[in-house]
Amino acid sequence: MTARQQRERLEREARHLAPGASEEAAVGRRVFAEGRGPVLTDLDGNQYLDFAAGTLTQSLGHGHPEVVAALTEQARRLWNVHDSATPDRAALLELLAGLLPERLDTYALFSTGAEVVEAALRVVQATAAPGRNRIGALRGGFHGKTTGARMLVHWDVGHQSFAGNSILGYSAYCYRCPLELTYPSCGLRCASLVRKHIADKPNVSALVFEPVLGAAGVVVPPPGYWEQITEACRSNGVLLVADEVLTGGGRTGTFLASEQFGVEPDLVALSKGLASGFPFAVLAGRADLMHHPAASGAGAYASTYAGNPLGIAAARATLEVIERDRLIERVRVLGELLHERLHALPARFENLGDVRGLGLLYGLEFVTDRASRTPAPHLARAVYSTALDLGLRVALGGHILRLAPPFTIDEPLLDEGVGLLEQALERVLS
Ligand SMILES: Cc1ncc(COP(=O)(O)O)c(C=O)c1O
Repeated sequence: MTARQQRERLEREARHLAPGASEEAAVGRRVFAEGRGPVLTDLDGNQYLDFAAGTLTQSLGHGHPEVVAALTEQARRLWNVHDSATPDRAALLELLAGLLPERLDTYALFSTGAEVVEAALRVVQATAAPGRNRIGALRGGFHGKTTGARMLVHWDVGHQSFAGNSILGYSAYCYRCPLELTYPSCGLRCASLVRKHIADKPNVSALVFEPVLGAAGVVVPPPGYWEQITEACRSNGVLLVADEVLTGGGRTGTFLASEQFGVEPDLVALSKGLASGFPFAVLAGRADLMHHPAASGAGAYASTYAGNPLGIAAARATLEVIERDRLIERVRVLGELLHERLHALPARFENLGDVRGLGLLYGLEFVTDRASRTPAPHLARAVYSTALDLGLRVALGGHILRLAPPFTIDEPLLDEGVGLLEQALERVLS
């Protein structure tokens, strides 16, 4: 329940704040005042374990001292000189080169996820062969809300979609297979249809995809899915553009989720996990694409906040800590614990239809009953609110809750968080 001081602020701001907040904010109705490591504190002094890691941004938790120091020091020196070089930029680029696959050795810096997806689309469009004017996307993919990115998102994200020049392929959403098949007897029909689509349509220049669908509820494709699709893209000259805005930076147990599926993208969009919540994004790409004269004319990768010194400082400190403290290995270890605890839940709760994920990224899908699998957003909302009241913050979207704790959390706190989730499930579903 929202306590007194928070209620007062929410009432005041509601007079002027535009509606259209995320479900999380609208249902949660909390005013967060402070964050330290995995813990948030609201204005009335209540504390929450943050298993949404900000908005999947706080890989190091909130207020990591090294990031605070880097930002503070940079704030004293310099804030914005457009995209001119600053002393730390070379080191940041070298860090990225050490973390990303060797073929992705050229980077352009931006400030948001949607902005970097737009930049990827510009590179695709600039380098595409004549006549290749369509872009492939996958059902359930989310890529941002700017016009170009929105063309790739064929579902309701708060305002109307328009498909533009994008065409849609099947994602491997096995729990709700749109083809009404079951893995593995389906023989990955979804992948073969995408393959056929790609082969039949010579005007497609690129496939923009999340290797694991994030916003749609952490949809992890089964083995074989990506192999078939990437092979089809390769043999038909279709670029692979991985949107790893949410999955990139180690969240799934490898720096890129693509690595786990054998996908070798030509371009990758990165943002959320890279700079501890500071606006920062990277388009990583093959040198020949990023340097292509049609894609790299004067100003092509520049914008007001692109690569600003504060973003660079935050990203550099975050990535240095991730690398030095071997936090991606830590994601794998903690991920196994999370996997074990979460996968035990559906047996206890009939309305928990599916639990899936990898690394420190999980989705819980709520249904009215197991047989019909009818989505139950009211249950997801009730569990979300109850968990908040108990001191656990997760991410809410429709009938799905997502869990994404910081990489730096210790085992007892991870356990405590899952315990709070269990209590919330018991209160709402039992
Ligand atoms: C995969 C993916 N791409 C793009 C975006 C858009 O990022 P932003 O909200 O920073 O524009 C998001 C945001 O959640 C995302 O999850």
